[in-house]
Amino acid sequence: MENKAPSLKVEGLSTFYGEVPAIMDVSMEIRRGEVVTMVGANGAGKSTVIKSVSGILKPNAGRVKLFGEDVTGYNADALVKRGLSVVPEGRRLFSEMTLKENLELGAYTRSDRSGVRRDMERVLSLFPELKPRLTTLAGKFSGGQQQMVAVARALMSNPRVLLLDEPTIGLAPVIVDRISALLLEIANSGVDILVVEQNAEVALEIAHRAYVLEGGRVIAQGDAKTLAQSEQIQKAYLGI
Ligand SMILES: Nc1ncnc2c1ncn2[C@@H]1O[C@H](COP(=O)(O)OP(=O)(O)O)[C@@H](O)[C@H]1O
Ligand SMILES: [Mg+2]
Repeated sequence: MENKAPSLKVEGLSTFYGEVPAIMDVSMEIRRGEVVTMVGANGAGKSTVIKSVSGILKPNAGRVKLFGEDVTGYNADALVKRGLSVVPEGRRLFSEMTLKENLELGAYTRSDRSGVRRDMERVLSLFPELKPRLTTLAGKFSGGQQQMVAVARALMSNPRVLLLDEPTIGLAPVIVDRISALLLEIANSGVDILVVEQNAEVALEIAHRAYVLEGGRVIAQGDAKTLAQSEQIQKAYLGI
């Protein structure tokens, strides 16, 4: 993985809610071909990192670079157009709309209709269980299927970098495994991935590299397998 240019590079990012800092001086990167994870307890700042990188929150300090371009403070639409897509915390589907309509919304920044149709086919081929259910209302799907819809929707913008906020939370172990396999499949198709997770066990298993976030700061980073072996990480995050 060495020598690969970063797709996404975050330098010294700090974001406040009012006077209160939620993340402080966070630096991290995703390199081409990588699955990267950021693990941390509830309240560590994981969602704030994702929101500050993806144009939902404006960081108070620091820089975000996407494929070398400084995109700090750009809004979400501008970032989607440049190849960054997000699967937000809690999925945020339109439950009264069909699967097809939800997927079309994922392509809202695009005007190439034939490309969108092609991508819908391509994306659905990753989700055999969703494919025959295009007219089903999103709210009718199981929790695991809704998470898959959220991932599929994010892929409809044809991203090169995908950020996921706790995609496995609340799901049964067998579904967690399915989502993990799916993320690896997406990574293999050429999309670089950052997945933030409280579930460090799963995240460290699928990631190449990892960052540990505590109290809004990165307190450890490195090769995911190595971190999973460290005593400090095992005690704090893996219940070992
Ligand atoms: N909208 C908000 N207003 C004020 N404080 C917030 C808000 N969202 C999150 N926080 C605080 O910021 C910190 C980081 O939260 P968050 O990024 O949601 O953590 P995580 O996703 O790791 O659980 C927490 O202390 C949380 O209480
Ligand atoms: Mg969160």
